[in-house]
Amino acid sequence: MTELDPERLPRHVAIIMDGNGRWARRRGLPRFFGHREGVKTAKRIITKACEIPIPVLTLYAFSRENWQRPEEEIAVLMDLLRAYLREELPTMLEKGIRFRVIGERERFPEDIQEMITLCEEKTAAGDRMTLVLALSYGARAEIARAARLLAGEVQAGRLSPEDITPETFARFLYTWDLPDPDLLIRTSGEQRLSNFLLYQCAYTEFYFTPVLWPDFTEEEFLRALAEYQRRERRFGRV
Ligand code: FPP
Repeated sequence: MTELDPERLPRHVAIIMDGNGRWARRRGLPRFFGHREGVKTAKRIITKACEIPIPVLTLYAFSRENWQRPEEEIAVLMDLLRAYLREELPTMLEKGIRFRVIGERERFPEDIQEMITLCEEKTAAGDRMTLVLALSYGARAEIARAARLLAGEVQAGRLSPEDITPETFARFLYTWDLPDPDLLIRTSGEQRLSNFLLYQCAYTEFYFTPVLWPDFTEEEFLRALAEYQRRERRFGRV
């Protein structure tokens, strides 16, 4: 078992859960099976992160670009999300998880939006870990939205253009109250950010693994955290 230094844990880990489709294809199964396994992996990693605990865990569950996938695949992903929200609320409450969604929630079916709100409200007092699901999320859209909100504040006379600093800007992002990710993990061998948390990842350590998301175990997760602890972070200093 990989050992971690409890003094140097990341405050925020973000994960791009990639490779469900390939996992299924390699087994001659429809992509759907990969997504179903992917949800199981997400549950295991959430449980592990909560145990450690990692104060904030963000999972990229559905990107803005994912709306372009075939209708049947989107329907499957919606069903999985529905089932997840319905089944996991008691677990979240029991584990002290505060649940949050970032992204364009208004694009989801009404019943899913209602479940999201319910989960957020019921778990608001969770103090062990914040679980953030990125849904219909895209970083450029998030940044454009922040600019729009800021412009509105300036127009209303509540802010002046000189007030716009990196810090004030960040207050208009979905993640306004969360620390920036210390570590970003991407599975399945792809080594890119794919429009995820562009503003927030300025100093984030990246960890890429060829393991496909359905095969990503708790031990793989610990290995990523241990690798993070071996890195020296300088934030531009010497
Ligand atoms: C990438 O695999 C994964 C997604 C598009 C998101 C799906 C995420 C899950 C099923 C986990 C959902 C978690 C919760 C908590 C509801 P891919 O289809 O892009 O794989 P590929 O690159 O191999 O085709």
